[in-house]
Amino acid sequence: MASASIGIQGIEALHYYVRDLDRTRRFFVDKLDFVEVGASGPQLEHEGRQRSAAFRAGDALFVIHQPVGEGGRAWRYLRKHPEGVGTVVFDVDNIDRAFALLDERGGTFITDIQRFTDDGGTLAMFSITTPFGDTTFRFMQRRGYRSLFPGSVAAPAAAQAGNRFGFERIDHLTSNFQTMKPALLWLEHVLGFERFWHVEFHTDDVARRIDAQGSGLRSVVMWDPPSGVKFANNEPYRPNFKASQINVFHEEHRGDGVQHIALTVPHIVSAVRGLRARGVEFMPTPKAYYDALPARLVSLGVGALHEPVAELEENQILVDGDGPGRYLFQIFLKDSAGLYAAPEAGPFFYEIIQRHGDSGFGAGNFRALFESIEQSQRTEGAG
Ligand SMILES: [Fe+2]
Repeated sequence: MASASIGIQGIEALHYYVRDLDRTRRFFVDKLDFVEVGASGPQLEHEGRQRSAAFRAGDALFVIHQPVGEGGRAWRYLRKHPEGVGTVVFDVDNIDRAFALLDERGGTFITDIQRFTDDGGTLAMFSITTPFGDTTFRFMQRRGYRSLFPGSVAAPAAAQAGNRFGFERIDHLTSNFQTMKPALLWLEHVLGFERFWHVEFHTDDVARRIDAQGSGLRSVVMWDPPSGVKFANNEPYRPNFKASQINVFHEEHRGDGVQHIALTVPHIVSAVRGLRARGVEFMPTPKAYYDALPARLVSLGVGALHEPVAELEENQILVDGDGPGRYLFQIFLKDSAGLYAAPEAGPFFYEIIQRHGDSGFGAGNFRALFESIEQSQRTEGAG
């Protein structure tokens, strides 16, 4: 029987730790066209020993922290890891009930419920540890509270424009583990998440074939049905455990953690074209992928796409499908280490996704990309 819901409404924000806040500000504002909506006030910076700024587009909110001196949370995280997701913040409808349920189910509290007031209302929150490496979860109940977070100040010229690419919300978070079972059990028994119905995610035959090239992985998606919050979870797959991209992430991140975050857009072709024009770099897609795409769409039974394949190919956008008229488009940005040409920026990356009736995660693209790489290697070998 499923556990009682702890009342998650959605993901309120992600907290992310960086060494260079100005570099990340340029990425969010100048590249992605997020709006800077707030920052840490002087007292918070002094007490927390970190400088923070918040960036929003649609419902996606990122709070970025850079250490000031030593000893703060961002400093402690960055002493162990490259840059990455430090905290996932969830809105809950009843903070006392969420706390009580988590307490009963074995949640480990970093803080008790902390309560704040401002001239608009109240904010209550608490944090717990997780099996997601050094990423913590925070639960927050906001009742008219105006500030972004306690101790924050509004950005001086908070423009209301921005978000020209139409980012809507965080679609899912994907995390990598050396072994994911503890996290899956914790998500189920402590948080009350369930296995997403669409988990026949990577079939074993694909995983084994990818293994031959050293990139094996296995995935399970867990979700919170009332809110729709989804966590995809990966672990390396035998026999080439060490060469698996999941193990490589673990080495680079120096532990388990969040690998990527997917943001939804309503029009991916124009968004990607615009982002490329601003200098955003994406993972490349082999030409053979598009050569094989028409036949693949037939075998998926998807039917006609509303975007011309030529435009998808021009922008290197990937397609997956689930049946008649049900498909999704997705693309992955280069990882942060690649975007900033700085290894300590880490292996984390962003995904951009446009859904058209397909609630999966693009599992078919693992096979399609693998086969197109094989095809390219054969062609090059023959040439
Ligand atoms: Fe994803």
